[in-house]
Order: sequence, then structure tokens, then C-alpha cells
Amino acid sequence: MKKITIFKKKSNQSILIIILCVLVCFFFFQNRPNTNSQIDYSTDYTDYTSMAKLLNRYNIKFGTVINAQSMNQKNYKQLVKYHFNSLTAANEMKAYSMLSQSESQKSKDGMPVMNYTTADRIMQFAADNNIGVRGHVLVWDAYMSDWFFREGYQSNNAYVDRETMLKRVEYYITEVITHFETSFPGVIYCWDVVNEAVGDNSEEYNLLDVRHLRTLRSGTKNLFYEVIGDDYVELSFLYARNAVTKLGVDVKLFYNDYNTFQEEKCSAICELIKSVNTYQKEANGRYLKLCDGVGMQGYIGGYGEQEGCLESADIYRIQKAVGAYGALNVEVHITESAVRNYDKTEVSIKKHAKFYENLFDALIKNNQKNNGPITSISIWGLCDNESYAKGSYNYNLNSPYGGLFTQDYKVKEAFAKVNKLLSR
Ligand code: GLA
Repeated sequence: MKKITIFKKKSNQSILIIILCVLVCFFFFQNRPNTNSQIDYSTDYTDYTSMAKLLNRYNIKFGTVINAQSMNQKNYKQLVKYHFNSLTAANEMKAYSMLSQSESQKSKDGMPVMNYTTADRIMQFAADNNIGVRGHVLVWDAYMSDWFFREGYQSNNAYVDRETMLKRVEYYITEVITHFETSFPGVIYCWDVVNEAVGDNSEEYNLLDVRHLRTLRSGTKNLFYEVIGDDYVELSFLYARNAVTKLGVDVKLFYNDYNTFQEEKCSAICELIKSVNTYQKEANGRYLKLCDGVGMQGYIGGYGEQEGCLESADIYRIQKAVGAYGALNVEVHITESAVRNYDKTEVSIKKHAKFYENLFDALIKNNQKNNGPITSISIWGLCDNESYAKGSYNYNLNSPYGGLFTQDYKVKEAFAKVNKLLSR
């Protein structure tokens, strides 16, 4: 009898253990992160109201980036036409893309010569589809052609003096603004006059300069600073202002940078804007407003890794910075936004969607409360891109799963949430 009881007890325990195992397995598989290949991306972007229309109700343009390659991608252009009313050329309107060294060397008056062929193709697409363009960018030390700063535009000659350089820069800025205004009147609604002139750490600027004007970039000299001097930003804005005034066009002039929502950098940028806007006194004794706005590039999250991504503290910091720039009586554009996400799990895709929704919610509410400093939002990391090689520049900068759309232009939850939020 005793034996039988023991056996019965043992068998009850075994059944209990089996049930427990089944339950544990059930919960494990239920909560296991899925890969996004199992997520349903069946909706099409045309099922949603155009984002440009929705944001127009808040007087905000919705933009993205285009480059020479995407000009050949029919699907990308369709998406752009449907949801966007602002475009930024990735590289095609930068000085290093448009300046021609061989033609400049032959120039009779010593002024540089530009080739607008590729930039004009992008402008034509925008003009044909009634899309505005953020001119990007007139003066940027990165990727800049070194020969532009040298005697006779020869790669091995000495650097020119300040006066010669100022003439070149003034000519370049005036010519470029005038070319696009004449060939495509009214298409460009703003120019990034200067990009990334504020340094990130104390090795990159003069410690006595409250503007933290960049003297170095990753060890390389900022040639605008080096050859012209520490007023090159103010002067570039003055030349651009003179050009748009002379043409009588409504083109806003912007200062554009990254990390604009980091406290220290934000303060330095504010100092720079103040300096630019108190640089030139008019006959009536008032300062001429040279800079109309700050472009906040908007790469958000950890660089190259998930740690530091999708943190709500960043939304708070962005709002705070928008407030600081708005208080200087300038507009704000979010110019190159990428909400970074490096993980392909369902959990992080959902977190990314929620982050995007919260970001837009905060930006819109804040904007309504503060008389709308934000007038344009552009997304740089628009589509996921699984082909970025881990650790590559694009992988780190844009992240593979930070898009509003999949790489074949299907709607992600992030887009659906933002669109729904704006449709209310
Ligand atoms: C900066 C520039 C952009 C682009 C990115 C890199 O943010 O402003 O034009 O070159 O770097 O993709």
C-alpha cells in the first residue's frame, strides 16, 4: 500500500512538472521578439492622406532627401510626389559638386566656374511637381575642394589671401543663388548658407570664442576659417542676404548643424546666430537680420549601436533647443531627421513607432504653444536599408531600421502612427 502511495505521489509530481514546462514554453514563445520579416507591412502609402497636406494645416512643410541615383528610381519619386512638398539634394547642390576646377583655372576674371547640370535635374523634378527645395548648402568646410582656396585654383599652389578668398566666396554665393532663382524662380524657399560651423569639443575651437567656431574637423583645418578668418560665417550670411535682396525674392537664410539639441552646442549656436544677426547695422541704426533660421539636422539616438536610441529624454532635449532658437526670433527647420534604430525585433520596431509618434506629438504641440518656430520637417532616414554594412558610415548615421517605410516603400507602424496623429 505504502509503495503505491509513493508511486502515486511521484506520478502527480511528474504531471505538475510537465504542465509547468508547457506553461513556461508557451510564455517564452509568446513573448519572444519576432524578426520584422514576420511583421505585416501590407498597407500601401497611398492608403494614407498625404503628409504634406496634413502638416500644411500647421504651416509646416514635409521634406526628404533626393540624390542623382534616386532621380532614376520611379518608385522613390512616386512616394516623394505623394507625401512631400519639400526636397533637399543630398550632395548635388554642395560647392564641391558644382565647382569645376578645370573651368575655374581657365576663368578670365579669376572667379570660380560652376557646373549645374546634375543640380538642375533635381530642381527640374521639384519644379515640375510643385515641390519646394531647401537649398543645401553654400558654405561647408567638410568635403570641400581644397583647390578652391589656392592660387589659380591649382592643387599644389599656395593658399590665397583673405581678400581674394572673400571675393571668391561672395561671387560663388551670389552666382549660385542667382542661377537657381533665374532658372527655377520660386522653387528654392530657403538656403542653408553655412553648415556645421560650430565645433563639438574643445580641441575643435578657440576656447575664448563663445560661438565655438570650428577651426578643425577631425584634425583637418577648416579652410574657410583658416583663409578668411573668424568672421567667415557672418560674411557668408551678408553676401547671401545681399543676393536675395537684390533679386527681390523670398528665400529664407539658414544656419544648419548636427547635435543642435545638445546643451553646450545649442548655446554656442545661439551665440553664433546672435553674432550673425548683429553683424551689420543699417542706416536707421537697426541691425540687418542676416539669418532667418536654424536647421536642426536631427540624427537621434546612439551612433552605430542600439544603446542610446529611442530615449524619450531626447524628445525633451529637442523641444528645449527648439525653444532656445525660437527665442532668438528665428525659424526652425528639422532638416535631416533620422530616428535611429539598429534592431530588427518586433519590440524595437514598436518602440521606434511610439518614439516617432511622441516626437511629432511634442513638436506639433510645442509649436502651436510657441507661435510656431518650426516651419519645415525633413526626414533623411526615410526608408529602412538592410543592405548597409554593419559599421559603415551610412549604417552608423542613418541606421538600418530607422525608416518610416520599409526598403520597398511599405508603410511601417511609425508612419501609420504619425499619419494618424496628424489626421486628428
Ligand atoms: C551632413 C550634411 C548632409 C549629409 C550628411 C551625411 O549632415 O549636412 O548634407 O552630407 O552629413 O549624409
